[in-house]
Amino acid sequence: MKRWFRKRSPSVIPDSPSLAANSGPGPGDAQSEQAAAREAGHERPSWRAGKADPGSPILTVQRVERSFQVGGEKLTVLKSISMELFPQQLVMLRGRSGSGKTTLLNLIGGLDQPNRGEIVFRGHKFHEAGDEERTAVRRREIGFIFQSFALLPLLSAWENVELSLRMAGTPKDEWKPRVKHCLELVGLGKRMHHRPFELSGGEQQRVAIAKAIAHRPSLLLADEPTAELDSQMGAQVMAVFRDIIRSENVTICMTTHDPTIMEAADHVYEMVDGTFVS
Ligand SMILES: Nc1ncnc2c1ncn2[C@@H]1O[C@H](COP(=O)(O)OP(=O)(O)OP(=O)(O)O)[C@@H](O)[C@H]1O
Ligand SMILES: [Mg+2]
Repeated sequence: MKRWFRKRSPSVIPDSPSLAANSGPGPGDAQSEQAAAREAGHERPSWRAGKADPGSPILTVQRVERSFQVGGEKLTVLKSISMELFPQQLVMLRGRSGSGKTTLLNLIGGLDQPNRGEIVFRGHKFHEAGDEERTAVRRREIGFIFQSFALLPLLSAWENVELSLRMAGTPKDEWKPRVKHCLELVGLGKRMHHRPFELSGGEQQRVAIAKAIAHRPSLLLADEPTAELDSQMGAQVMAVFRDIIRSENVTICMTTHDPTIMEAADHVYEMVDGTFVS
């Protein structure tokens, strides 16, 4: 498959025997997954099946403004923000604490709505859509990863990932191969039945990634996904991101403070006080 936006090949994480799982036959095989998706009525548009059109963004943000009323005063947190995300891109939002990164990520993911401007995600007008419509799109099409992993502590890695398939309404007979595939993809084939407290920080974050991609979103949003990790674990997470962009056909938009991981980005948007600076 032709690869766009690649700056360098993804590095392979050491305990990940199956990062190339899509290259051989088996339950995670790309063709059998597509066939299963067709049967289940979840077939992807043509660019998701390998004919990526880098000319069409999956998300456009135009002149977005977000303000809050605080103590009777209007606090404008985002000012005329415009951006685009393309298929299979790794985009980073960088900026000081309070510059508006999380606020913007929430808008892109349909968790919140702008006061002005337009946000269109794969034809869905998030600036106009009601809560129910945005929630439905989000459950099907978007995955979230948070700084603090957001795993359910009493559930094993396997059960945490399975939960996201349950939430997305994925048919039950697809759960087992998909959960296994996603955990192997992030290098956790040998830790599937551990609970979060039995995993390292980097491993927990990789479970969170598996959970976020299990329902095959086209967009993955990650808020400071490496902030609580040491540099080696952070590098592992970035290697997994690079790998899933290709193997799972996702676009990733993440926030970060860390200049060392920024070189992995296809594009960096620098935020200062709610606006982008070039
Ligand atoms: N619901 C809200 N009501 C009032 N002010 C808010 C609200 N949400 C965010 N803000 C303000 O908007 C500004 C930007 O917040 P945001 O969380 O987007 O920053 P950030 O760039 O993600 O910072 P950090 O790097 O610390 O996570 C902050 O000054 C914050 O206080
Ligand atoms: Mg933030």
